[in-house]
Order: sequence, then C-alpha cells, then structure tokens
Amino acid sequence: MTDRKRSLSGIKPTGTPHLGNYLGMIQPAIELQEDYEAFYFVADYHALTTVRDPDRLRKCVREITATFLAFGLDVERAAFFRQSDIPEVTELTWFLSCVTHMGLLQRAHAYKAAIDEGRENEINHGIFTYPVLMASDILIYDSDIVPVGSDQLQHLEMARDMVRKFNNQFDGEYLKLPEPKIRKEVATVPGVDGRKMSASYGNVIEPLAPPKTLKSQVMSIETDSAALEDPKDPDDSIIVDLYRLVADEEDVAQMEENYRAGGYGYGHAKIELFETLRDHFAPYREKYEALMADEDRIDEVLAAGADKVRPVVNEVMARVRSATGVGA
Ligand code: ADP
Ligand code: TRP
Repeated sequence: MTDRKRSLSGIKPTGTPHLGNYLGMIQPAIELQEDYEAFYFVADYHALTTVRDPDRLRKCVREITATFLAFGLDVERAAFFRQSDIPEVTELTWFLSCVTHMGLLQRAHAYKAAIDEGRENEINHGIFTYPVLMASDILIYDSDIVPVGSDQLQHLEMARDMVRKFNNQFDGEYLKLPEPKIRKEVATVPGVDGRKMSASYGNVIEPLAPPKTLKSQVMSIETDSAALEDPKDPDDSIIVDLYRLVADEEDVAQMEENYRAGGYGYGHAKIELFETLRDHFAPYREKYEALMADEDRIDEVLAAGADKVRPVVNEVMARVRSATGVGA
C-alpha cells in the first residue's frame, strides 16, 4: 500500500448522476486522487433501502461507474468498486450497531423527517440503520478524509461518534477518525424548481445526457412572470445561480449585465446555460457513451477495484474481531 492518506466516498445508485452530484461530490472526489489514495464506491446496499427494481439498480451502478471514469478517475491509481462486493461492511455494521445508541439514530435527519411527517409505518429498518452502514463504509477502509456534499455532514459526525465509542469501550485505537471534506462554494446546487437538486425531487439537470434531454431539462427551469423587456435581478434567478457554477467569469458578468439592462428574457439565459453545459461536458459525454456501450470494461473496473481494497478490509476486520473477542 502507499504512504498517502486515503480519501473515501460513496454514491447511491438511485438515479442517473446529476449536476449536484457532479459538482458537490464527483468532481471534488476525483481531484483528490492527485494527493490521496482514492477509494470510491457505488452504494448498492444503501440503494436497497428504497429501490425495488433490480434492472434499474444494475443500470444505475453502471451509469455511476461510467460517470466516474468519463470524468477522469484513474483506476490505475484509485479504486472504484461496488459496495456489496465487500460484504464485510454489513458485518462491521453489526459491531458498530452494538456501540450506537438508539437516541443517536433517532436524531438522523432522514429518520426524524419521516417520524415528524407521521410516516413511521412506511420506513424500514434499513433506513433507520442507514447511518451505521455508512459509518461502516468509511471505517472499514481506515479512511482519512471523506469528500461529500454538506447534506452528509450529520452522517460524518455520527461515524466519528461511533469511532470514539468503539475505541473507548474496547480501549484501543482500533478505528480511525475520519474528517469530512466539503467543498464550500458548491455546498448546494439548486434544481430546476429552486429546491436542492435531487433525484428524489425530479428536478435534475444531467450534464452527460444527450443534448436533447439536457436542453429540455434546462428549459424547464422555473422563472417568474417578468416580461422580456423588464430588468431582472441576477441574484434572484436559478438560471444565473447555475450559470455561475459552470460558466467563465466574463460570461457570468455579461449575463448579469443583460439581466439588469432588461430586453433579455429568461429564454435567452436558458439557451446560454444549455449551450455552456452542452459544450463544456461534450468530451466527457462522448467517453461516457462509449463506456456505457462496453459492459465488460465496467465489470472489469469494478472487480479490480474490489480486489484492490480487500487487503485493507481484512486488516481492519481482524483488528475489530480481535478487539471485541468475536471470532477466534
Ligand atoms: P440525490 O439527492 O440526488 O439522491 P445523493 O443523496 O445520492 O443525491 O447524493 C450523492 C452525493 O452528491 C452526495 O455526496 C451529496 O452530498 C452530493 N449532492 C447531491 N445533491 C447535491 C446538490 N444538489 N448539491 C451539492 N451536492 C449534492
Ligand atoms: N449517504 C451517501 C449519500 O446519500 C452515500 C454514501 C454511502 C456515502 N456510504 C458512504 C458517502 C460513505 C460517503 C461515505 O450521498
């Protein structure tokens, strides 16, 4: 293994990757391969808390893998794998469950929201225990840093809590304390309706989708009823917010000026945003499409990734079993 510190992150295969996933997690995670040993995975066990369509799940796993490769994850240096190819994460989940109080999990945002909305009969135990599985994902690889969007901070805090409890109760430094790594400037990418872009809200923009799909997603951005000739406020516009995330500074300044001057409609702004996204992502889109047509390559990458991380898993699990007295 290397002397570099380890960066680890996971992404759930519940939808085609969108701009929020890309800017909030995928791009920062890939950049970290320069300075860290990168371990990234597709969280298919986590997806099972909600997904009930096996073909869709398999397809999403391929899409996410192809996305990481298209955006430049270098699988010679990094490992990209399927969460479920390392079934020991479910074993470590049990060890962590036994040092985790119910109260901690009851405070988890996703669980709390379900309870507050009176949906307790609709949620399964997997959702309740989701943060423990996620902690296990992180801790089983002795991870140093975890690049995620800000919505995952609470999960990271919980993982850190579990490390302290485990190490304290078994009296040793068995698990490593991970640090979250959040990219502040893209903390939350807005979706076409202004809420957080999320597969579950159906408000996404998919940068690698065919241009026709991309265009219709951009054109569906919600706007107010200001007339074409009216001056508009660039600081109160989803289109400008998104444009700022992907366009050059001068182009952004130009769009802001056009907004203030009036005579510039939201339709114009959407077309500029669409064209910028289409052109910026064109080379990646091409690679993505080629990879999606090559299932063997995807399978090969996932298998090699799992092989690469397995020695670390064996070491950590041996430590945990020995610390607790579980097993020989
Ligand atoms: P979704 O909300 O579409 O289901 P996930 O929860 O699977 O997305 O998120 C995968 C990763 O992408 C996480 O690290 C998350 O923080 C990041 N992410 C998701 N949506 C956004 C967003 N709108 N802005 C910034 N980052 C995001
Ligand atoms: N819960 C994360 C999300 O919804 C996905 C995830 C699962 C993850 N396991 C992880 C992220 C471990 C970082 C580390 O985005």
